[in-house]
Amino acid sequence: MMVVAEASQESLKRRLNVSGGHGLNGTLRVSGAKNSALVLMTASLLSEETIELTNIPSLTDIDGMSAILRSLGVRVDRRADRIRLTAAELSGSAPPYELVNSLRASFFSIGPLLGRMGHARVPLPGGCRIGARPVVEHIRGLKALGAVVNVEHGIVTASVPGVRKRLSGAQIVLDCPSVGATETILMAAVLADGVSRIENAAQEPEVQDLAKLLNTMGARVTGAGGPVITVEGVERLLGCSNYPVIPDRIEAGTFLMAAAITRSPLLVEPVIPEHLSAVIQKLRDCGCNIDIMGRTVRITPGEITAVDITTQPFPGFPTDLQAPFMALMCTAKGTSVISEKIYENRLQHVAELQRMGASIRLEGSTAIVEGVAQLSAAPVTGSDLRAAAAMVLAGLSARGITEVAGLKHLDRGYDDLEAKLSGVGAEVKRNIC
Ligand code: EPZ
Repeated sequence: MMVVAEASQESLKRRLNVSGGHGLNGTLRVSGAKNSALVLMTASLLSEETIELTNIPSLTDIDGMSAILRSLGVRVDRRADRIRLTAAELSGSAPPYELVNSLRASFFSIGPLLGRMGHARVPLPGGCRIGARPVVEHIRGLKALGAVVNVEHGIVTASVPGVRKRLSGAQIVLDCPSVGATETILMAAVLADGVSRIENAAQEPEVQDLAKLLNTMGARVTGAGGPVITVEGVERLLGCSNYPVIPDRIEAGTFLMAAAITRSPLLVEPVIPEHLSAVIQKLRDCGCNIDIMGRTVRITPGEITAVDITTQPFPGFPTDLQAPFMALMCTAKGTSVISEKIYENRLQHVAELQRMGASIRLEGSTAIVEGVAQLSAAPVTGSDLRAAAAMVLAGLSARGITEVAGLKHLDRGYDDLEAKLSGVGAEVKRNIC
């Protein structure tokens, strides 16, 4: 816990100085997916045997999740990009509120705790800057599987009645294709008695990665990646070794946009192309030539012209790349309309981009972006993880040196961003103000 707190204190003081106008050249390496690694780590709670994950990114969120799992009694051994998790003896106590509040994915642990132990006490995750982020769907699904769930004083207490304390398979139709709810319910259902069917399920690659890990551990999950997931409950799950986390499609998309905004030809790898279809299409539409060579993507930007985007659940354009794409549209030729449909408050980066000379008009959850010739450097702050990345991108193309604050957000989701960008010719330095 101290490690995480110190890291965030450290990040509070630091800034990234981004010197604009440098062309980039070379290959940007993509790390393992944050939003997959975090939920795969919670799946360790489902087995008393060890699971080993590889391609784990170096992020403060991974440190935070390790601390939370240790508070539940999980043994966590981290070596470079490998992590071994053993949940032989679970304490089942509620992980500390301050950790859960800062790390939404830890709430998803309520699913495997219920499935494995028949009871769980997990603090309600707070909302955050981008929206209220309720967990209604997660709780609805657990109740459908037979759990009794109460929410009091910010703690969600769940238990399974009956002698065997085992959840029962059920049909669940989600009101919205929530990624976290799908993952929470999926992890609860794999040890339930009978068959479960999750309809209107989230189709994100991270859900597919979780289902694949669970099947590697002996679960019987079919349909993940589509709108209906079927789970045949089993008695117990085994461990596994060397399970590779998928590459981070959001980091990869951010890198492709770094190439586009600096008008630089770049290689980005590894990428699973079908995880980025909507993004690749929009980058092609706005003037980038993109070649896909296996798990390597080559982007060659031409003249960047404005295109419209609307964020949607997968396979639509991902909300997590809305801010980086808006930074790109700030210097595109023409006017683009960017609609944020997933979160109610994920346009705070507009004000920061305007400080850099961007011409943006807000109408509710839509931003109308009129491209300008060039942005100008200014001190800016990233209000969330992806907004911080967007400010770095804007800095790469702006005239002068842009000072980006909000690194505690950036360090949650980007593994050594400044080293990676510097490695392809950017001038990005971290310093203390
Ligand atoms: C996951 O969050 C990701 N986080 C988010 O990434 C990502 O933006 C989001 O999926 C959408 O793709 C992790 O996987 C750890 P949701 P999650 O439940 O599961 C509403 C990043 O930057 N909703 O699919 O919390 C909710 O309010 C982060 O890496 C309900 O209305 O997302 C939101 O508007 C940010 N009721 C929308 O659905 C519910 O019960 C999407 O939420 C649940 C959600």
